[in-house]
Amino acid sequence: MGLLAGKIALVTGGGTGIGKAIAARFHAEGAAVAICGRRKDVLAAAAGQIGSDESRVMYGTMDVTRPEQVSDFVTEVVERFGGLDVLVNSAGIMRFGALTDATDELWSELLETNVLGPWRLMRSAVPHLRARGGGSIVNLSSIAGHKSLPNAGVYCTSKSAVTMMSQVAALEWAGDRIRVNIIAPGLVEETELADPIFGPEGVPAFYAKLRDLHPIGRSGVPRDVADTALFLASDQSSWMTGVVLPLDGGRHLATNRPPI
Ligand SMILES: NC(=O)c1ccc[n+]([C@@H]2O[C@H](COP(=O)([O-])OP(=O)(O)OC[C@H]3O[C@@H](n4cnc5c(N)ncnc54)[C@H](OP(=O)(O)O)[C@@H]3O)[C@@H](O)[C@H]2O)c1
Repeated sequence: MGLLAGKIALVTGGGTGIGKAIAARFHAEGAAVAICGRRKDVLAAAAGQIGSDESRVMYGTMDVTRPEQVSDFVTEVVERFGGLDVLVNSAGIMRFGALTDATDELWSELLETNVLGPWRLMRSAVPHLRARGGGSIVNLSSIAGHKSLPNAGVYCTSKSAVTMMSQVAALEWAGDRIRVNIIAPGLVEETELADPIFGPEGVPAFYAKLRDLHPIGRSGVPRDVADTALFLASDQSSWMTGVVLPLDGGRHLATNRPPI
């Protein structure tokens, strides 16, 4: 029996990168999974790779910045699979630039997608989790949510907000047996997150620059995050809520003090 046998999970951003790996891992552990994002072709390809069994895999286009699309998709998942037990908010975007250069539009884009998006998903999902007697929510923050990174101020702020919002939610819903936990990854390669900043051809150089910051000797891959998300989604973590898990090969421990 898989760790998520009989469970129903919705994974935003499930067409690529971390979200796709999480959905595949959950499916392999017995869950029915629903993935969403804005690009239908990407989602269709991902769903095909996750599994061919239509009774346990579905996808739908949904933009987290559009409240009605969020509530419609949650309803569609519940109608199709019969309920909801697990929500993973992996959809997100990253932008770089100095704070002095940040525009109102940039702030809106990041906060709408990275903060209000997960909030909308939680708002729509929570009544369904309650109806099942509880559930698990896993939100993707970042090392950028607890370490200040120059030239990433708007992204850092959005991820910090994800962490605090999730911790408040954890307290508000603990009595409903709905757990809310947060994963804060360091650099995870094999995703599309940095593509809009560097272009796909510039991403390898970006990865190479950051790799050595992770004391354990490598950056992450989506499978690393999927294993942690599985633990948080399953009953293996049933006494854990409101926790921020740094998942970064020890990068959060790093200091700029030179070795003495
Ligand atoms: N990769 C890393 O190093 C890293 C580190 C720390 C934290 N994270 C966090 O991990 C999460 C997953 O990122 P990733 O690395 O897997 O990058 P990714 O491959 O770019 O995945 C992000 C996903 O979000 C979806 N998305 C973006 N905007 C959306 C919107 N408005 N509505 C619905 N879906 C939207 C994208 O699909 P569409 O474009 O088709 O909508 C995409 O599938 C993000 O929250 C990111 O901030 C990543």
